[in-house]
Amino acid sequence: MNYMDKIKESIRYIKEKTKMKPSIGLILGSGLGSLGERIKNPTIIEYKDIPNFPISTVKGHKGQLIIGQLGDKDVIAMQGRFHYYEGYPLDEVVFPIRVIIGLGIKNLIVTNAAGGVDESFKPGDLMIINDHINFTGQNPLRGKNLEELGPRFVDMTLSYDKALIALAKNIGGKLNISLKEGVYMWFTGPTYETPAEVKLARTLGASAVGMSTVPEVIVATHQGIKVLGISCITNMAAGVLDKPLNHEEVIETSLMVKDKFEKLVIEILANM
Ligand code: HPA
Repeated sequence: MNYMDKIKESIRYIKEKTKMKPSIGLILGSGLGSLGERIKNPTIIEYKDIPNFPISTVKGHKGQLIIGQLGDKDVIAMQGRFHYYEGYPLDEVVFPIRVIIGLGIKNLIVTNAAGGVDESFKPGDLMIINDHINFTGQNPLRGKNLEELGPRFVDMTLSYDKALIALAKNIGGKLNISLKEGVYMWFTGPTYETPAEVKLARTLGASAVGMSTVPEVIVATHQGIKVLGISCITNMAAGVLDKPLNHEEVIETSLMVKDKFEKLVIEILANM
């Protein structure tokens, strides 16, 4: 079966499970998945049951779609995502994004855990992504263009929607949640960056580094979907502080931040 047919088959399967037509997609990053539990009247579909879906392998990541209501909005949340470092080719990494876009979402909120590069950041900060740097040399749109989904050459100027950024900042102000803003730089992982790479990232204009999100934002942009990106700064990136970092710290911080994060996203949704 070709890629387009696989997407369509997955969409058909999901449509058999729910009548809901979500208008907003949510990708919940490491340790941020619990927002999915707040979704009302949920239809939960495990990735392993969806034809053609890859299966997630990371600790702290579930692998399921949750379709239901958050406030007055119909949403579809991905609890768990696929990463390039897990070994999937990028067309598999972004496959679920193609599917949820095919289900009719118009906006996508992508979240992740990221390392803080900007020295004014601290662990536990939330950063609105206003741009990204693809530092991997990889691109999910490489290969034959899927003409029915979007153009061959994609303008990334407005990938991170200005109005959604303004809305997020406005809500942050109202809720007294301090928000950082900056550029997210994608490394393949699974190694964390070296201190020298973090220095380079800062020199090149990055505020945070991470191992996800960029491929998803690229395909969303390809299909004309508006994106809001939020990074949870779970740790200072390597070499910023005089201490080593580890995955446990990443999960711990994201769990500490989750109430603030959930409040923010729910209020943003209510105003979208
Ligand atoms: N680097 C890359 N990815 C990450 C980090 C980091 O420091 N923290 C959480 N995800």
